[in-house]
Amino acid sequence: MTDHEAKVERRGFLKILNSLLAAVGLTAIVGPAIAYFWPSKLEEMPSEPVSAGSEGSIPEGEAKTVRFGRYPALVINTPKRGIVAYSAVCTHFACLVKWNPEIDKIECPCHEGYFSAVDGSVISGPPPTPLEEILVTIVDGNILIGGEA
Ligand code: FES
Repeated sequence: MTDHEAKVERRGFLKILNSLLAAVGLTAIVGPAIAYFWPSKLEEMPSEPVSAGSEGSIPEGEAKTVRFGRYPALVINTPKRGIVAYSAVCTHFACLVKWNPEIDKIECPCHEGYFSAVDGSVISGPPPTPLEEILVTIVDGNILIGGEA
């Protein structure tokens, strides 16, 4: 192999490497933008209802986080609607939301997103869509979340 051929081969390799790095950089920039406008859905909800404990285990104005399939769910005893449940996965970048009883709102600690406990709607912050609501049924004093209506 001549010096000239080695230079051409090296140049070709550097071009490929440059293209790969550009593709990785573009993915790092475009990926979050796509996730913002098309947030991931909660795909893996259990098909059967999941127990969230007894009705009395969540006093009014309080909440608990329960395991709901692959993702946690937030179960809140609201003064307006009684017991409600939402996916605890933020619709922005999938951080886990939590109940803040001092302000009566669901908050996402990652980017200060706030959701209503009444309907899961976005009150403020960057989340693009409401929290996904989960069906709640009370059977013999036990809270069941999920399943079919
Ligand atoms: S991930 Fe929840 S506000 Fe950004």
